This record gives sequence, structure tokens and C-alpha cells, in this order.
Amino acid sequence: MKKNRNILIAGEAGFIGTHLFETLIQENNYIEIIDNFNQCYYSGKEENLASITQNYEILKDYKVIKVDLLDKSIYGKIADEIDIIFHLAAHAGVQYSMLNAVQVTRNNIGGFVNLLEFVRKKGIKKLVYASSSTVYGNPIYTPVDEDHPKNSICPYGLSKLCGEIYADYFFREYSIPITSLRFYSVYGPRGRPDMVAGKFFDLVLQNKELMIYGDGEQLRDFTYISDIINGLILASEKRESSGQAFNLGWSNPKVLIN
Ligand SMILES: NC(=O)c1ccc[n+]([C@@H]2O[C@H](COP(=O)([O-])OP(=O)(O)OC[C@H]3O[C@@H](n4cnc5c(N)ncnc54)[C@H](O)[C@@H]3O)[C@@H](O)[C@H]2O)c1
Repeated sequence: MKKNRNILIAGEAGFIGTHLFETLIQENNYIEIIDNFNQCYYSGKEENLASITQNYEILKDYKVIKVDLLDKSIYGKIADEIDIIFHLAAHAGVQYSMLNAVQVTRNNIGGFVNLLEFVRKKGIKKLVYASSSTVYGNPIYTPVDEDHPKNSICPYGLSKLCGEIYADYFFREYSIPITSLRFYSVYGPRGRPDMVAGKFFDLVLQNKELMIYGDGEQLRDFTYISDIINGLILASEKRESSGQAFNLGWSNPKVLIN
């Protein structure tokens, strides 16, 4: 069967990656999955991914590659004919990054640069990089547009910003078409248990009180997973979006409790 596109998703076993996989596999694409299934701030990723892929086993048009992006051996493991790469792999927890700054910096920046080096040698049609609204830090003005100063207040946000700078460098120097998307707190089925939406749903289901930090007046934008998936796919299809970074949120901030 002729496939629409050959796609690589790095960090596919995570929350956003499994949703992206489910959408793209149903659109007659061939998909390669890279993940190291780490257990840094939550576990069960291998089982999570298997529970999704088992529904599509009959199609036989995906391959799971268990490898760390920091490992040079990725070069020999990925198919030659990849058209599109979605780079979602990262240590994504803000709090986790405060306690493990060196590990997060090495993982998020080193892993992305290793992937970019691979792309530079092979050539692809498009790479979409998952960045984060944490690159801005505490907003100086709202709504936060893409030109807002980048005053990140955690190692995770800094690592995401550094990834954007590398994306820009590879776009300018090697003409690799890369778009960065700055996600705003994503929620939905299979959401990360370390994030506030997941924590609250769990507490409500257990009839327990919600823990409120600060004065409870903080605002934050939450984005439903299907909007993020639409944004990722749109960015992968629009070549003219290359060399740029875009906010991807709902623009309807709510009082934040974490
Ligand atoms: N979920 C959000 O609200 C949110 C907000 C902003 C940005 N993002 C970004 O979106 C991306 C996906 O987020 P998520 O919520 O699905 O996170 P997640 O932690 O659920 O998924 C990340 C996946 O990357 C894998 N990974 C990490 N380092 C790796 C490495 N060196 N090699 C191979 N695999 C590795 C992990 O095992 C995991 O499966 C991340 O880059 C994150 O920074 C997410």
C-alpha cells in the first residue's frame, strides 16, 4: 500500500505523542516511533504506548525504536525515507527540572542536537519542534505574543528556548525547514499525572480537597489535546511556517491553582 507520508515521532510514548500517533496512523501514513521510555517523572509509558499501538497492529505500518536520542546509534536505526519529523522528546516537568537541572539540560538540548545532526545528513521535508510557553517566564504583558521577552524561570524553559535557537540555526545555516510551537499547558485523556489538570481530576474523583498554591489568582492558558494535534499537523504541512516559532494555546486563561 502506498503511504501518504513517512513520519518519525520522537518522544512518541508520552502524552502528546500517543495522540499524534493515533491521528496520523489513521491517515494512511507510515510511522517510526522513537522513545527511551524513561521513568523520570512518571512511569508506565511502554504499557501506555502498547495499549494504543495494539489497535493498529493489523496495518503493520509503524515501527517502535527503543533508543535514547542522545545515542549516536539513532543514525543507523531510522529509515532513510523519512519525510516529516515531530520532535516531542524531552524531560518536560517544570518542578522536575528545578531538582535535576543538569540532567534536563543534557537530555533536552543534547537529544535535539543529535537529531538535528541526523537530519542535516539525511535531509527531510519538515521538522516540527515542541517548545513551550515556559520560554516566556512570568508575563510582562498579556496576551503574550511571540515577541514577548524570553525570561524563563526554570531549567526546563531554558532548555526549550535553547532548542528553538538551535532550530533557527539549522534553518539559517542548513536550510532545514523547522517550525517551533510553544504549547500552553495541554490537557486531555492520558494527560501527564504530574500536571495540574490530571492531578485535579484524580483528586475530584477521589472526593479529596484540591491543593491551592499561592493566592489562587494566577492565570494560565490550558489547551485541549486535539487542538495541539491539529496545530502540529498544520505546521508540518505548511512549508512557509519554517524558521518561525508560534504560540499554540487557547487564549482563554483560567485561574491557576498550581
Ligand atoms: N504537556 C504539556 O502541557 C506541554 C506543554 C509545553 C510543551 N510540551 C512539550 O511537548 C512535548 C511532549 O510533552 P508530553 O506532555 O507528551 O511529555 P511526556 O513526558 O509525556 O512525553 C515525552 C516523551 O519523550 C520521551 N523522551 C524523553 N527524553 C528522551 C530521550 N532522550 N530519548 C528518547 N525519548 C525521550 C519520554 O520517554 C516520553 O515518552 C515535550 O517536548 C514537552 O516539552 C508539553
